[in-house]
Amino acid sequence: MGSMRAVVAWCVLIFVMHSGFSVSNAELSPTFYRETCPLLNYIVFEVVANASITDPRIGASLVRLHFHDCFVQGCDASVLLNNTATIESEQDAAPNNNSIRGLDVVNDIKTAVENICPATVSCADILAIAAKVGSVLGGGPSWSVPLGRRDSLNASRSLANTNLPAPSFTLDQLKDAFAVQGLNTTDLVALSGAHTFGRAHCGTFLNRLYNFNSTGNPDPTLNTTYLEVLRGLCPENSTENNLTDLDLTTPDELDSNYYSNLQNLNGLLQSDQELFSTPGADTVDLVNSFSSDQSVFFDNFVASMIKMGNIGVLEGDQGEVRLQCNFVNANSSGLAGVAAKDHKGNLIAQI
Ligand code: HEM
Ligand SMILES: *[C@@H]1O[C@H](CO)[C@@H](O)[C@H](O)[C@H]1NC(C)=O
Ligand SMILES: *[C@@H]1O[C@H](CO)[C@@H](O)[C@H](O)[C@H]1NC(C)=O
Ligand SMILES: *[C@@H]1O[C@H](CO)[C@@H](O)[C@H](O)[C@H]1NC(C)=O
Ligand SMILES: *[C@@H]1O[C@H](CO)[C@@H](O)[C@H](O)[C@H]1NC(C)=O
Ligand SMILES: *[C@@H]1O[C@H](CO)[C@@H](O)[C@H](O)[C@H]1NC(C)=O
Ligand SMILES: *[C@@H]1O[C@H](CO)[C@@H](O)[C@H](O)[C@H]1NC(C)=O
Ligand SMILES: *[C@@H]1O[C@H](CO)[C@@H](O)[C@H](O)[C@H]1NC(C)=O
Ligand SMILES: *[C@@H]1O[C@H](CO)[C@@H](O)[C@H](O)[C@H]1NC(C)=O
Ligand SMILES: *[C@@H]1O[C@H](CO)[C@@H](O)[C@H](O)[C@H]1NC(C)=O
Ligand SMILES: *[C@@H]1O[C@H](CO)[C@@H](O)[C@H](O)[C@H]1NC(C)=O
Repeated sequence: MGSMRAVVAWCVLIFVMHSGFSVSNAELSPTFYRETCPLLNYIVFEVVANASITDPRIGASLVRLHFHDCFVQGCDASVLLNNTATIESEQDAAPNNNSIRGLDVVNDIKTAVENICPATVSCADILAIAAKVGSVLGGGPSWSVPLGRRDSLNASRSLANTNLPAPSFTLDQLKDAFAVQGLNTTDLVALSGAHTFGRAHCGTFLNRLYNFNSTGNPDPTLNTTYLEVLRGLCPENSTENNLTDLDLTTPDELDSNYYSNLQNLNGLLQSDQELFSTPGADTVDLVNSFSSDQSVFFDNFVASMIKMGNIGVLEGDQGEVRLQCNFVNANSSGLAGVAAKDHKGNLIAQI
């Protein structure tokens, strides 16, 4: 049996080597910009911390933006590309439209970074660092973000519509959506913990309040006290589509209360509550363990954020370092006088 397993392991290894599909991206490194932009982390922190004074939700919004980037053709800043003659922006995909936030703050970060380290830092790396800063500002963990991603030359609205999980997903559907990205059940439960802060629109959970799964009744796994609160905020036929906190206990903090909420049937989205309320599921033990020890949650959250940040990254001479995050460099309108450099700092283009 042991030798059989070894043979299988070798076959997998050889397949991986020959397919050009990289399982881990050894080339990303926290010190990637040590020489070329030593103040990078500091600059990102300054801009996001300043924005959070007037917008306490911004940290959550930036964490989500990084997630919505990584699940769609990898962490390549494709989500930031605006509509043009050749780009169908992912921002108009159903999971993003009227819902993703933080694009202006990302542009503010990019401007500040360009002022100090011109044509050096990718927008995809800025998103990854901004997500970490979002965690820190919410009282969550910090970590060294592996860097060296390059920005895509295109975007995919159709992948944004198919790859991003929906709030009405069952546990099996959630697991599948994460498996497609190389993320497992532990990653699913740890990363769902990002719903410890930020907001959601009534439309993302309204079916749970009035007509769950076409039963004509509310979701039986929704706490009846919470149900009444949510019904007050989100009337059945209202077109207001109000916002409410994803975490009813500590709405702006990245902590383990998300998991204790699930234990009390106080998860806001069906996709949240499924992790605890699906009978016999292997996610229940993980929810209980993250709820009972916040440091276990934080350790897993960091590991899974780094794993998510590695999905499908462009490296080396793939893609480019965009000069304006909303447009590829070939579309040079409004960018006269800016220079593009490759990952070694050599000048490759002057507009
Ligand atoms: C497991 C599957 C997931 C589903 C079905 C899901 C779905 C949603 C939905 C529907 C919203 C509310 C959007 C709105 O109404 O505007 C939301 C918000 C949010 N999601 Fe997720 N999400 C998932 C996983 C994740 C992951 C992996 C992360 C990050 C690691 C994340 C971070 C966030 C954050 C921080 C917010 C609040 C954003 C803000 O306030 O601007 N979510 N999510
Ligand atoms: C801080 O944020 C405000 C808006 O909230 C903005 O007007 C100002 O330019 C920002 N300052 C810096 C230094 O980023
Ligand atoms: C990109 O599109 C968004 C709306 O989707 C808009 O608010 C923003 O101004 C655009 N950015 C640029 C640089 O044109
Ligand atoms: C370049 O960007 C401008 C500004 O949005 C847009 O109008 C134009 O269609 C883009 N061109 C191409 C080729 O993408
Ligand atoms: C995005 O939302 C706007 C405003 O609600 C709407 O007019 C537009 O049709 C939506 N876009 C797509 C592609 O659904
Ligand atoms: C984007 O570019 C990549 C790499 O060239 C390619 O594999 C992919 O099919 C393109 N996606 C779209 C939507 O054009
Ligand atoms: C998920 O993957 C991590 C490594 O990335 C591993 O430590 C963990 O045990 C895996 N969890 C499951 C349920 O397979
Ligand atoms: C919804 O109803 C279908 C058919 O009755 C059932 O198979 C399914 O498990 C239900 N889903 C949930 C989340 O309760
Ligand atoms: C929805 O939000 C609006 C604006 O914030 C508020 O005036 C209204 O009372 C809210 N509706 C409900 C049902 O809470
Ligand atoms: C909402 O609309 C549905 C369908 O038109 C109707 O059956 C229901 O009574 C309405 N609910 C309220 C509270 O008006
Ligand atoms: C409902 O939530 C409250 C706290 O918000 C909690 O005390 C109660 O035990 C919960 N009910 C159930 C059935 O979990």
